Amino acid sequence: MNEEALQKALSETQNLGEMPDADAVGTVGSPDCGDMVRLWIKYREKDGRKVIDKASFQSFGCQTAIAVASIATELIRGKTKEEALAMKADDLSRPLGALPPMKIHCGQMVEGALKAALEAEAAEKKAAPIEAPSQAGTLADALSAAGKTAGKVKIVMQPPTTAS
Ligand code: FES
Repeated sequence: MNEEALQKALSETQNLGEMPDADAVGTVGSPDCGDMVRLWIKYREKDGRKVIDKASFQSFGCQTAIAVASIATELIRGKTKEEALAMKADDLSRPLGALPPMKIHCGQMVEGALKAALEAEAAEKKAAPIEAPSQAGTLADALSAAGKTAGKVKIVMQPPTTAS
């Protein structure tokens, strides 16, 4: 991994923060470390195609995940959903160089959040924008939904404490 590129991505973090008018949001947690990343996407029309206008993220995770998310939210701008879906963790973290084995899941977590957001938008058909991601239960729902689509990232949910 390129330490210089990592430090640059961390000192000039791009697109950090919630996006209230997003078209889609995806959240994925990593059972390897308990970290989590949430990614918002906004689309626009360009030459008759729907492309990603902008993306933003929040990360409750390590520096590598923050750096990859920062880079990824820049890399996917202007891409169609299909083009963005084709991007793997390696593509999203390329400017950082090859991630060491213990950091590979950090990139995969960002890839999982991106895929969850892209696929969430398809499911929602934009008719029902996801609102108030901070509401109780929403995060658990998002994690659960992301777990079905994230592929390489498994979600571990706490069992409910009470039975109704
Ligand atoms: Fe888990 Fe980086 S150490 S996301």
